[in-house]
Amino acid sequence: MNKNLSRLKKFEPEKESLLEESLKGFNKPQKRLPSKLFYDQRGSALFDEICELDEYYLTRTEISIMTENIEDMCSMLGKNCLLIELGSGSSRKIRLLLTGLDDPAGYVPIDISEEHLINSVNALAKDYPSLRIFPVYADYTQQFKLPNFEFMHSKKAVYYPGSTIGNFEPEYASKFLNRIANRLGKGGGLLIGIDLKKDESILEDAYNDKKGVTAEFNLNILRRLNRELGTDFNIEDWKHKAFYNSTEGRIEMHLQSLRDQDVQVNGSRITFAKNETILTEYSYKYNVEDFKDLMSDAYNLEKVWTDKENRFGILYFTVI
Ligand code: AVJ
Repeated sequence: MNKNLSRLKKFEPEKESLLEESLKGFNKPQKRLPSKLFYDQRGSALFDEICELDEYYLTRTEISIMTENIEDMCSMLGKNCLLIELGSGSSRKIRLLLTGLDDPAGYVPIDISEEHLINSVNALAKDYPSLRIFPVYADYTQQFKLPNFEFMHSKKAVYYPGSTIGNFEPEYASKFLNRIANRLGKGGGLLIGIDLKKDESILEDAYNDKKGVTAEFNLNILRRLNRELGTDFNIEDWKHKAFYNSTEGRIEMHLQSLRDQDVQVNGSRITFAKNETILTEYSYKYNVEDFKDLMSDAYNLEKVWTDKENRFGILYFTVI
């Protein structure tokens, strides 16, 4: 076995908590499900497919910003930096950093899909044979331990790409990143990708692709509940719905019930009226200034990189 995998740390979310969280969400006036449920094996693969879609400009734009500015980014992170990635997925973007960094101390990918994590660690180990990898299988919004780093590193830096922070409501995003700041310590780094506010039709197209991959990604949540929690959602009775809420500055993704129906969840029946929705995801869009303010309790904004059309921003913060 790959020696990096022998260090794999597991903080598997318990079935109980999956069920509890889903139940709690079904009891709210606006029924909802946690977005992290998207990322089972199939969901993670569908998300990778989304990243390749014409309409989904985010990944492409972020990678091009990184490619163009990689030297600058790596010099801000500095020599012997220990990189921690939140939601590492297939660990594609990190390669640009791993290739460009001056003697990185190690790489800590954290992901909620175990298969995805193992596959990407195997691939990385082949291409970066001298890199120390410390994979962590965890829901990074819950409690988990980082490995003990007894070796030299100049600083710790969190890499949080993809605009994943947009899944959280701003107040929670700020709280969550303040907690990360505490773990990193003063001088620690945060390299984070955020999707910027823009023309609404561009935003809405990105979440309503013609091939229907995003719809499949959204509906996959119900398949997962059926399989893992024994619910009896009939997938044909649900429809993908995504729109920009300009008041709140976010894309909202819902699953809409096509008829009056009830669904069996852990012995109780949850009723859904025709057209009622389950909220499955927020994807907040920011201005750089607003995001900087949101973070200002714990971080200093050091540098901003963006694309010509100002679609996406990569921001480098240090912990104060
Ligand atoms: C992974 C949270 C950044 O919000 O754009 C893609 C997830 N949802 N298409 C996003 C997603 C629908 C994505 N994030």
